[in-house]
Amino acid sequence: MSNWAELERRCFSCQKCALADTRTNVVFGKGPRDARVMFIGEGPGENEDLQGEPFVGRGGQLLDEMLSLVGLSREKNFYITNIVKCRPPKNRDPLNTEQDACIGYLEEQLDLIRPKIVVCLGRIAAMRLIKPDYRITKEHGHWVEKDGAFYTAIYHPAALLRDPTKKPDTFADLRSIRAKIREICPEVYG
Ligand code: URA
Repeated sequence: MSNWAELERRCFSCQKCALADTRTNVVFGKGPRDARVMFIGEGPGENEDLQGEPFVGRGGQLLDEMLSLVGLSREKNFYITNIVKCRPPKNRDPLNTEQDACIGYLEEQLDLIRPKIVVCLGRIAAMRLIKPDYRITKEHGHWVEKDGAFYTAIYHPAALLRDPTKKPDTFADLRSIRAKIREICPEVYG
């Protein structure tokens, strides 16, 4: 069983895959370490690589705005991270080999935080954490119970920026997340 300091030390000095050669910063994760709710994306983009924090670009701003409407903030009550902690060049999807090299860090974060609710942001995270043949257009907003937590997925914020007609579906999914929080871990809302 690891602890945060030791996990961070290993992650920040990681050389397990080629993304280490092109990164500016390792993007470890952000939020309270006793959060009951976790959001997990696929991997850092350019802004995240430069700032060392997940979801700080345009997509991240949209995500924070939408989550604030259901009472969630990374300062107060959720933890946010990614499947891979270093930026894939030109924002391509992280390769399976890169995900395999990195997933242990996320597993340790999940072990340390023990969230009750895990929300995958987009197809890549859902395929890795829910099931390999996950279909985001058909299955977003569905709930799966796994290892003592409830998992769901919503559209990736970048997909909402590209296609705003997906936003109403995501608002419905966020209402479902709020209801699940009230049911499973109402302390999140004080
Ligand atoms: N997209 C992601 O999946 N994660 C980030 O941190 C930023 C953009």
